[in-house]
Amino acid sequence: MSLTLSKKAQAVKPSSTLAITAKAAELRSQGIDVVGFGAGEPDFPTPENICNAAIDAINAGFTKYTAASGITELKQAVCDKFKKFNGLDYEPDQIVISNGGKHSLTNVFTALLNEGDEVIIPAPYWLSYPEIVKLAGGVPVFVSGNKEHGYKVSVEQLKNVTTSKTKALILNTPSNPTGMIYTEEELRQIADYVVENDIYVVSDEMYENLVYNGKKHVSIASFGEEIYKRTITVSGLAKSYAMTGWRIGYTGSTKEIAKLMGSVQSHQTSNPNSIAQKAALEALTSDQSAVDMMTKEFDNRRKYMYERVSRMKYVSTLEPDGAFYLFIDCSGVLNKSYKGKKIESIAEMSKILIEDYNVAVVPCGDFGFDDSIRLSYAIKIETIDKGLSRIEKFLDELN
Ligand SMILES: Cc1ncc(COP(=O)(O)O)c(C=O)c1O
Repeated sequence: MSLTLSKKAQAVKPSSTLAITAKAAELRSQGIDVVGFGAGEPDFPTPENICNAAIDAINAGFTKYTAASGITELKQAVCDKFKKFNGLDYEPDQIVISNGGKHSLTNVFTALLNEGDEVIIPAPYWLSYPEIVKLAGGVPVFVSGNKEHGYKVSVEQLKNVTTSKTKALILNTPSNPTGMIYTEEELRQIADYVVENDIYVVSDEMYENLVYNGKKHVSIASFGEEIYKRTITVSGLAKSYAMTGWRIGYTGSTKEIAKLMGSVQSHQTSNPNSIAQKAALEALTSDQSAVDMMTKEFDNRRKYMYERVSRMKYVSTLEPDGAFYLFIDCSGVLNKSYKGKKIESIAEMSKILIEDYNVAVVPCGDFGFDDSIRLSYAIKIETIDKGLSRIEKFLDELN
């Protein structure tokens, strides 16, 4: 057969985080006690009132198609949240409710990009960005953040990678994988640069609720009319409300961009699940104490994990202020020997960890930083404890 398949689809790398989760699940199914630090989802159940809203929706027969870009009540609830939490004024026709943050990002780049448009992606980055950009015909352009600056990028660095083809910049604060947060001052400088250069910012704020150390999440679109017009603010319910499986995300943008995204979505997926939309409405409009409880618990785990990893040999980490990840520089492990053989890469180290110590970590090559790993603390503290002890044991074996 001489038929060929899509070059774009073939160029997509399968998600390595999902692959690690799958490997851990496979070992568990063989009865092996694996500690999985790969999870990108809260271990808490979805709060009961949210589940009940979904059950009520089913009982009320709210089980048919809705408007393709989401129900007006939910769009209004998203506007209210944007106003109260982010200081952003959006009308319901500027909101598109989607099937999750990933889907929102897909909508955004489908609406923004023409073939060959460049998108600046600061590294380390969430591994899906380059793939989503490429699928939409864009060209990812990477710029690495320095560890000394919390892996965040400066305007100077952006200048070095901006060309006449630059269409957009992706910003992710709080960051997956580093847990770092851009300060208001840093964001203001980037906003000025974006406006001067007339490009878009895709501001991924999925982890906006998960912020610690008294730090504050700031939305770049809130700095005035010019940056507001050029920003697409992306968020969702998955991380803040332990609703990963429900698949609800949303964007705030200009009406023009929202209309384009709504139109694309109307052909590609139609409305997000009607029942999940009612659950999302409950999540956004009800008492937020479950979010506070989860954030507090993540914070305890964050402190514990940071403390312990800081004391480990050959590795180093920065204290994260947000999300639920610790980003660990493991370059000190390279060229050390394990069982008489040199460790040549962090991918190899991760393989040893899962096979010999039954600890699943995420090597960050696919996040644009070969020498680091990401550990999630969206798992129970006892499990964190056990997993870190295993990593320490491995480090003790090196010479
Ligand atoms: C930074 C970031 N953005 C977006 C998403 C997508 O979230 P969702 O599960 O809503 O598609 C994730 C999920 O891991 C993420 O880490």
